[in-house]
Amino acid sequence: MGTLTNKRVLVGVTGGIAAYKTADLIRRLRDAGAETRVVMTAGAAEFITPLTLQAVSGHPVHEQLLDTEAEAGMGHIDLARWADVIVVAPASANFLARLAQGRADDLLTTVCLAAAVPVAVAPAMNQQMWANAATQNNMRTLRARKIHVLGPAEGEQACGEIGPGRMLEPLELVARVSELFATGELEGLKVVVTAGPTWEAIDPVRGITNRSSGKMGYAVAAAAAEAGARVVLVSGPTALPDPPRVQTVRVVSAQDMYDAVHSHLEGAHIFIGVAAVADYRVEQAAPGKIKKTADRLTLELVRNPDILAAVAHRRPHIYCVGFAAETDDPEANARAKLASKGIDLVAANRVGPGLGFEADDNELLLVDRDKSKRLARAPKSSLARALIHEVAVRYHAESRAQDSRQASRN
Ligand code: C5P
Repeated sequence: MGTLTNKRVLVGVTGGIAAYKTADLIRRLRDAGAETRVVMTAGAAEFITPLTLQAVSGHPVHEQLLDTEAEAGMGHIDLARWADVIVVAPASANFLARLAQGRADDLLTTVCLAAAVPVAVAPAMNQQMWANAATQNNMRTLRARKIHVLGPAEGEQACGEIGPGRMLEPLELVARVSELFATGELEGLKVVVTAGPTWEAIDPVRGITNRSSGKMGYAVAAAAAEAGARVVLVSGPTALPDPPRVQTVRVVSAQDMYDAVHSHLEGAHIFIGVAAVADYRVEQAAPGKIKKTADRLTLELVRNPDILAAVAHRRPHIYCVGFAAETDDPEANARAKLASKGIDLVAANRVGPGLGFEADDNELLLVDRDKSKRLARAPKSSLARALIHEVAVRYHAESRAQDSRQASRN
């Protein structure tokens, strides 16, 4: 699996001769596992055709801001929300100046303004234009605004001059974009995550299960691995591939999940229960298929163990995070769950049209003992990264507090 698996990279292309390399960049991003969409400025279309970039990205290229048809498909706000990162390569002097001014006079600048995700630029221009005080001033403004500046490289230029101003090579850009996701916030820590539904057999062909695609839990496991943690993902039956850099343990029933979690807790610092665990099971599944001869069939169900509550109870030093799917009053329900399970943080997600379960988007309300915080609606992969950031901040604060309590006792 590539370093950009499940990442949505919006590639911006502006007018410069290096635009011919952007086709290769898009191909390399896709090789690394990314999904790509392309936004071109009018200047870029003078150097490379939209058709070429459509062919390599696998999607129609976006060019117009005020085009009713385009806006009805994926408009500027949808594009900004879709992306996990925006990479403008090549970024011309003119584009960088417009970005620094905060202009919204074409689709690309507007998407950059509307995006809450990292924006990276790969400048490419004549070395004198790069050295110009106006450009350097713009770059200072952009850096101060946390825009990631990738390059430029030094060397021979298309205009025949030699100096800084060459766009970084596609492979180098892919490596630098991958690094943007590696926060290191959970470096050296072990995280155990549960995901997916469980399947409680009634007989060899029938069972009781919950609705869950596993997408959120897998995204959480992948985000924790990206943040530098050693991750064990204990997953019920799903159709998803194992996330990269994660040890995935496949289980079927709640009891299997309970056993697998407990056998991987040694050395764990954080436990995140995302699985939709079945609350009840048939005590003894029938060995053969139950025939439908009787008009009524009574199944006696017994409670399954609460995996999350058991981890919190038996391993109090592990920072425990639970999920709660709620249709109403998520805050009150989350607060009740925090107390009843004895856990550190609850991520409450509203289930409803376009949210939760099989949907790609979700929104979360994080509730801990002190406060609550809303993570706005976003694709599950970016929401999972935001959640991991919040968990990391709280985990480190808690362990610092524990250290100082320990120090004052000694
Ligand atoms: O109690 P409820 O099912 O609403 O709690 C949801 C949270 O508890 C989720 O984080 C889920 O993964 C976890 N859970 C569990 N074991 C159960 C039931 C729920 O770990 N048997």
